[in-house]
Amino acid sequence: EKGLRVQDKGFLNTAVIRSEITYIDGDAGVLRYRGYPIEQLALKSSHLETAYLLIYGSLPTKEQHKFFEGEVMRHSVMHADAEGFFRSFRYDAHPMSMLTSAFSMLGSYYSEANPSLQGQRLYTQGDAASLATMDRQIYRLIGKATTLAAMAYRVRQGRNFVTPPTGLSYTGSFLYQMDHIGEENYTPNPVLEKALDVLFLIHADHELNASCTTVLQTGSSLVDPYSAIAAGCASLYGPLHGGANEAVIRMLISIGSPQNVPAFIEAVKRREKTLSGFGHRVYKTSDPRSFIVRKTADEVFKVTGKDELLETAMALHDAAMKDEYFIKRKLAPNVDFWSGLIYRAMGFPLDFFPVLFAVPRVVGWLAHWRQMMLQEGGVKIWRPRQVYVGAGKRDYVPVEERQ
Ligand code: SDX
Repeated sequence: EKGLRVQDKGFLNTAVIRSEITYIDGDAGVLRYRGYPIEQLALKSSHLETAYLLIYGSLPTKEQHKFFEGEVMRHSVMHADAEGFFRSFRYDAHPMSMLTSAFSMLGSYYSEANPSLQGQRLYTQGDAASLATMDRQIYRLIGKATTLAAMAYRVRQGRNFVTPPTGLSYTGSFLYQMDHIGEENYTPNPVLEKALDVLFLIHADHELNASCTTVLQTGSSLVDPYSAIAAGCASLYGPLHGGANEAVIRMLISIGSPQNVPAFIEAVKRREKTLSGFGHRVYKTSDPRSFIVRKTADEVFKVTGKDELLETAMALHDAAMKDEYFIKRKLAPNVDFWSGLIYRAMGFPLDFFPVLFAVPRVVGWLAHWRQMMLQEGGVKIWRPRQVYVGAGKRDYVPVEERQ
């Protein structure tokens, strides 16, 4: 095998790219987007301003921010015939399977975006025309992510679709499309609008997590960005990744009350159960985002009232944090442990939670995709090797001679 050896299971210790986008120090619990600490951005920035930073590398000037936000919001409208696409799903289809398919469907509207049709160097040559084409797809994907998610939600709720309103913020428009049931001058609750914006911001990127790696693996074949984003969305759907925020709530409901926490902890230690929302491949201390989510939850509960699962979540958190089994394995809360409590309090259906992870993560996926397309020396297809440990050469045996 030419000296090949299996480096590690699950890329445990493998770096496949150099990146300037997001920095994580898993031991110190540090997360920075383009050098800016996540705590500062969560407090002072907005999701779309941070999206600009992640994608283009610097905080936007007032004009750049206005133009970028204007383009994203302008592109948030969906073609009316996409309604037929969503209506083709069963009403109770999981919204993540609808969203994953929708990203791929979206690409079929824009032949200008397809390197197979426009030439494979469409995104890699870096000239003004190809950068402008790349930017238009970025605006469309970020702008339409909320609209596609809202369309999936309306199918689940058996409601008609709603055209994205003008004049609202990114999360305001999203909440309008989710909640709008016909009242005229709908204005989203500012506390919930801001809380969702903070949650979107801290979910925007996280370097080479499983879904981002999937986007880059797929994008390395120079497929269009819609197909690469659809692949990333499929990866995020899994309960070990973005599906964990839904799994945490299902876990808390099954525990039922703080009194049942000790028995649950013992079941986890016997490996009969998983403590969803705990543990992380990189963070070996608390995920810095979990503190921001926890604080945001208190803001939201002031408006919505406390979620009855909060007591159980706090009891579970405190019990795990002082238990040797978790301390020894460096297991601490990750971004998913508290976020589901906020989404529940805001009235989102449980299976919609991973969608609320995917919508903002489109930004990080695009930032890494753009970085790969424009990297020095062009794009090399990602094609790892294996170590073959199967059968040696053997001859075919006719079925009559097999026992
Ligand atoms: C996200 O990568 C990213 O950056 C992802 C993310 C992002 O922003 O993109 O941060 C978002 O996906 C957060 C993670 C959400 N997933 C969960 O909360 C699911 C529960 N967590 C585990 O499945 C697990 O911790 C992972 C998948 C998150 C990490 O798995 P690893 O790095 O492969 O760790 P591991 O499975 O090798 O665990 C090491 C040990 C093992 O014990 P031993 O076999 O060595 O005795 O810790 C144990 C595991 O059994 N362990 C857990 C546990 N997580 C790990 N035991 C109980 N409960 C858990 N949650």
